[in-house]
Amino acid sequence: DMVTPMSIVIFGATGDLAKKKLYPAVYQLMFGCPGAPLVPQNANVVGYGRSPVALDDFLAKQCVNVKGGQKEKFLKQCSFFSGPYDSPDSYKGLHEHLLKLEGGGKANRLFFFSIPPQIFGDVVKCIHTSAKAPGGGWTRLILEKPFGRDSASFAELDACTSKLFTEDEIFRIDHYLGKEIVLNIQAMRFGNQIFESFWNKEHIRSVQIVFKEDLGTGGRGGYFDQSGIIRDIMQNHLLQVLIWLAMEPPAKYDRKSVAEQKVKVLKAIPPLKMKDTFLGQFGKNTWECSGGKVHQEPGYLDDETVPAGSRCPTYAGVVLEINNARWKGVPFLMRAGKGLDERMAEVRITFKPQSFNSIIPGDSNELVLRIQPDEAVYFKYLNKVPGWDPKRAAPVVMDMSYTKSFPDIYVADAYERMFLNTAKGDGSLFVGSGELTEAWRIFTPLLHEIDAKRPEPVIYPFGARAPAGMDEFAAKYGITMAKSWEEFLVFNK
Ligand code: BG6
Repeated sequence: DMVTPMSIVIFGATGDLAKKKLYPAVYQLMFGCPGAPLVPQNANVVGYGRSPVALDDFLAKQCVNVKGGQKEKFLKQCSFFSGPYDSPDSYKGLHEHLLKLEGGGKANRLFFFSIPPQIFGDVVKCIHTSAKAPGGGWTRLILEKPFGRDSASFAELDACTSKLFTEDEIFRIDHYLGKEIVLNIQAMRFGNQIFESFWNKEHIRSVQIVFKEDLGTGGRGGYFDQSGIIRDIMQNHLLQVLIWLAMEPPAKYDRKSVAEQKVKVLKAIPPLKMKDTFLGQFGKNTWECSGGKVHQEPGYLDDETVPAGSRCPTYAGVVLEINNARWKGVPFLMRAGKGLDERMAEVRITFKPQSFNSIIPGDSNELVLRIQPDEAVYFKYLNKVPGWDPKRAAPVVMDMSYTKSFPDIYVADAYERMFLNTAKGDGSLFVGSGELTEAWRIFTPLLHEIDAKRPEPVIYPFGARAPAGMDEFAAKYGITMAKSWEEFLVFNK
């Protein structure tokens, strides 16, 4: 609907996410991306924050990452409204402010929650009583994680949102669901003939879902320490990737059918166990760069915002099982860490040797979906090495890299898709309440055990490929951790 006036309200507008992702994404949809405008160019973009700020200073700071020829026009659509998060009066003021911008008739309103979950409840209530869209327009809430920190806190959060808004009005973001390669899982599985025929325990030996970051917690350690890597990355992002990989085909590609299948596959996953978990924490490291300069990286505990002696994991490996006909017995290894050697996320599917492979033995086939950087899908298989020996085969790579196959194509940031889909009312890429109940059921016992027993993590030097002992942990499940993408390419040389 490009005619009805629309307002986008960003709670937490002075924060980091607004600056890095939200303002740039809204600009792209209004003015910047191919085919724009995808939302009306006269949409009102209203930042909301606790303390009053001068609009010019606010925009100069929070819109530095907005880049493009129509930035001036965009900034004219932006305003700021300050007030407490828990006072209905303040939301009445916001409502008046919005009515003025919208012209007083029917309007649609989208509220983005980039705020701590402790205040979600107040904000939801105040919107409901004082700031809902006028004239029969829609009101939609985009919620950003964390959605609680365990089963009980999620249930509490969910009760307060579901009392006042329907599931169709609530859009819970997991930005991994907006990444091209993650979206491609459905296209690969359900748009082709071959993949789905080997997508099961008969053919697949293991699945790895990997997240690596080469940064520490850089001053954000106080926040991170409250969650740890399992809550920060696994319970949400990696689990969503696992769901797309493992779920049964939905009847249709809509919110309801997708949510149904997502919940169903989660129900087949038993709660995680400590014995299937590996924990690590990065320590400081010093190394020599080219030119002889010495570089030093502090350890997690050296971050002043981190409580002394914290055992919070910055690295984890966790093995999940899925007890259904398709997957029984296939280990799904999630591993995620900060302070490692590279920034990378991928899915690595390793295939099962078959009896006839004894004729020409060699490494297992692997299908890799590289989420980032440099999106790619590649497949490792054995190929005869040209020459006299008919039995001599070596692994080669069939490589579909996005830059080669889709040159010059516009790859939208995940947040652009999330805003756009919310504006369209398409909830198929958002996280349902039923899914979260299941996700927390799977993770809560392990998280509570870690919180209570504080097991000692393996300290690894900042910049390591993995903590010592992680390869052996994976090997217990028959999984070999790949060394790097470069090592892989050796096969093609
Ligand atoms: C966020 C986490 O959800 O995802 C961060 O809180 C992490 O710790 C980030 O850095 C990673 O996102 P991306 O898109 O850079 O992989």
